[in-house]
Amino acid sequence: MRKPIMAGNWKMFKTEIEAVDFCAKLKPLINDVSNITILICPSFPALPKVWDEIKDSKMALGAQNLHWEEEGAFTGEVSAAMLKCVGCSYVIIGHSERRQYFGETDVTVHKKLLAALKHNLSPIVCIGETLEQRDKNETFKVIETQVKGAFHGIDVKHWDNIVIAYEPVWAIGTGKTATPEQAQEVHAFIRGLLPAEVAPKTRILYGGSVKPENVKELMAKPDIDGGLVGGAALKIESFEKLIKY
Ligand code: PGA
Repeated sequence: MRKPIMAGNWKMFKTEIEAVDFCAKLKPLINDVSNITILICPSFPALPKVWDEIKDSKMALGAQNLHWEEEGAFTGEVSAAMLKCVGCSYVIIGHSERRQYFGETDVTVHKKLLAALKHNLSPIVCIGETLEQRDKNETFKVIETQVKGAFHGIDVKHWDNIVIAYEPVWAIGTGKTATPEQAQEVHAFIRGLLPAEVAPKTRILYGGSVKPENVKELMAKPDIDGGLVGGAALKIESFEKLIKY
């Protein structure tokens, strides 16, 4: 059985104070939750204090990005070891906003994946097509290229730690969710691309306008193992509903 993950990707929202306050308020609401991994991915500066707040709770901590080098003259970047040191157990890699605005490619995604695995951080590797690509019937081609680009040469022993997030770019922050059928179709396709020995146990999250109104239907699909959530993870009421779908 694949344990689902509900991950809040807070992007560039919430100061340290706001982030800690959110976690302090969410904590008592999720005491009885046991069958799901609850993941909070705040901004870099909020990580240490958020970790202090959640380390004895049901929540796990993730970062939104990392650099692939161990250390060096890379102004503004953060390494895997630095993330481990402040309590992270997960890291998001290759989010479409990073691909779109910060020049992230399948090549850099692969290097970041290696760095994360080396430091025992679970990577959440994001893939997904744009609206233009979907309209041109290129969805499966794009997904296959991204999967191969990210995961080529990865030893099967690492796959227990790897999480994939399918996030159709046209559904992120737009309020337009892929229908559960559209999402399931791509999730099944992704699973089919993975090495046979790891495919059944790899968690594949869906992201793109996940909200309390659609979470149940999405999670009912056989190949959808959780959500990577932006907007609806910023409010306690809606994130709590997602966790307790
Ligand atoms: P959204 O963002 O839930 O606001 O669409 C999802 C994401 O970007 O991971």
